[in-house]
Amino acid sequence: MGKNKLKKFAKVKEMDHVIEPPFSEVLNKDFRLKGKWSEEFGNDGPIVLELACGKGEYSVGMGEIYPGKNFIGIDIKGSRMFSGAMEAEEKGMENVRFLRTKIDMITSFFAKDEVDEIWILFADPQLGRPRKRLTGYLFLDRYIQLLKPGGTLHLKCDSKDLYAFTKDEAIPEFNASNKGFQFEKEFDTNELYEEGIHALDETMQQVLNIRTYYEQMWLDQGKKIKYLRYRLERSLK
Ligand SMILES: C[S@@+](CC[C@H](N)C(=O)[O-])C[C@H]1O[C@@H](n2cnc3c(N)ncnc32)[C@H](O)[C@@H]1O
Repeated sequence: MGKNKLKKFAKVKEMDHVIEPPFSEVLNKDFRLKGKWSEEFGNDGPIVLELACGKGEYSVGMGEIYPGKNFIGIDIKGSRMFSGAMEAEEKGMENVRFLRTKIDMITSFFAKDEVDEIWILFADPQLGRPRKRLTGYLFLDRYIQLLKPGGTLHLKCDSKDLYAFTKDEAIPEFNASNKGFQFEKEFDTNELYEEGIHALDETMQQVLNIRTYYEQMWLDQGKKIKYLRYRLERSLK
């Protein structure tokens, strides 16, 4: 590992905005803040997760746009979240935290109905490894254990495969599985900047105009950006 990355790792551990629990504290156990994130933030505002946050551009960017909401960027890579955590700290943002952990263990961190929104931005499409896709059945099954009914799931990506997999396979498979919940599609565009964004209100346009590190790379290569939004509803089945 490079010297710079090691320095970032060491610094991330000391940062007020970063929570990095040892694996043993959360493996098949509840983390100390599960069900208590409102206490951590000191308010009852909505809790919004940015999964696979990388540098956390959406947690910081949305944290500024919505001062009344609370944002938690989650990723396993500490060196990446360093820049978002630094920015949140420098700006004195009380409504942003970063959590270094595997998303696979997310149910150890959040209680039933504790989360209002989940954002997934430019997650790896995991071609050939469907069980690892963050919008696959296994993950959707975890999300319903913490997302409120009426809460939203957002996916912004460049990958045609992840986009098609999510809307044509994973969500329909989940909805057919009779788990007591359905993901209802609210918004779908495969050309966000050329078409979809014009149908959204000004604030949502501002949010979707936040560019992540990976997004900028794909845009520079001329890729089209896709965006899907679902609302979680209790199902009557
Ligand atoms: C392609 S990067 C995207 C990062 C960021 N969202 C962006 O757009 O710049 C994917 C990120 O997902 C994280 N990741 C993938 N699977 C994960 C998992 N199961 N748990 C935690 N992080 C994960 C990786 O560490 C990586 O930072």
